[in-house]
Amino acid sequence: MNQRLELLAAYPFERLARLKAGITPPASLAHIAMSIGEPKHAPPQFVIEALRRELGRLDSYPVTAGLPEMRAACAAWLERRFNGRLNPEGMVLPVNGTREALFSFVQAVVSNRAGAKPVVAMPNPFYQIYEGAALLAGAEPVFLNTTDTNRFQPDLDAVPDDVWKRCEILFLCTPGNPTGSVLSLEYLRHALQLAEKHDFVVASDECYAELYRDEANPPPSLLQAAQANGHDAFQRCMVFHSLSKRSSVPGLRSGFVAGDPALIKPYLLYRTYHGCAMPVPTQLASIAAWNDDAHAAANRALYREKYARVLPILAPVLDVVEPDGGFYLWPDVQRDDEIFTRDLFAAQNLTILPGSYLARDTRSGNPGRQRVRISLVAPIDECVIAAQRIRNFLETKT
Ligand SMILES: Cc1ncc(COP(=O)(O)O)c(C=O)c1O
Repeated sequence: MNQRLELLAAYPFERLARLKAGITPPASLAHIAMSIGEPKHAPPQFVIEALRRELGRLDSYPVTAGLPEMRAACAAWLERRFNGRLNPEGMVLPVNGTREALFSFVQAVVSNRAGAKPVVAMPNPFYQIYEGAALLAGAEPVFLNTTDTNRFQPDLDAVPDDVWKRCEILFLCTPGNPTGSVLSLEYLRHALQLAEKHDFVVASDECYAELYRDEANPPPSLLQAAQANGHDAFQRCMVFHSLSKRSSVPGLRSGFVAGDPALIKPYLLYRTYHGCAMPVPTQLASIAAWNDDAHAAANRALYREKYARVLPILAPVLDVVEPDGGFYLWPDVQRDDEIFTRDLFAAQNLTILPGSYLARDTRSGNPGRQRVRISLVAPIDECVIAAQRIRNFLETKT
């Protein structure tokens, strides 16, 4: 077997299962899962209907580049949402959810060109796929800590030039998982200037781009930054978008990548060999979803309402801040995050995720330590009950 597989860390949920093993929470309380990052709102009926209607199209192999109508729907959404003008031919590719794309993109890009070990830089804490993809591609993951002192945004100016020199991909995540931090257009422009100076690719994971709090200030895309820098061909840019969060259809496995045609073309070749074309019925259901913005706005409003209901309950006992985007809370619990998670489960039958599981140790510590990730994915009433339980737990404990 590939020896690099041994480098992969246990996935956070495996570690969480071990942490909870042997504990019997009170049977009188129904379990509430706030550890998962899986949207739980009802999928839009019109997407389900489109999928059902098109099932007859399973009779042929799909092509890796996707249907022209699929690429056009993605490009049209990008144009509506970000004002980004993209040619759907050569700048857009459907992917089976961003997870597989984040992984496979790294395999296609990392080249060992400099002779020295290539670097894939990423925020810390981070979505775990970035690290696994880097390790399996033979690259060194370099962790850029995000803490409250840098407003949960990687400090790109603190990265030494010799690291940038080896860097082949910089991952950004905006809005961030787990911090919810949104990177500004200026920040993204600066990242691209560095990419140009040191010749690396910026991979911007924007799968939470439609889940934001301020309707007047939607999170910008790396594509807008490229255009603002005068790069209309999106040189060195790749963005990752998904229907999983936007439309609450994580099971559809539908997303797309967009950006630099000089990256898309070889990546398409890679994907052709890898064999990851999106089934035609999935594409046709996805077109219906990308073409409709009303359901995404309604979905966003549901999350906004959850924050409005949950934060007043938690604020007196926990250092909680409403994030600009995403569907998580990332509070500082001012004590060991594993013990906090375990004791909360034992007392309240409520599961959250220790922050240190989502981050890695660095010379300046593990930026997830003493933090926990609380997902507001459950129905609103359940989120309110969960918040009340966390409050009870903290009030009886402290
Ligand atoms: C930051 C981030 N990126 C990507 C994904 C993958 O999403 P999907 O593969 O459903 O598009 C997730 C899922 O939780 C995520 O949190």
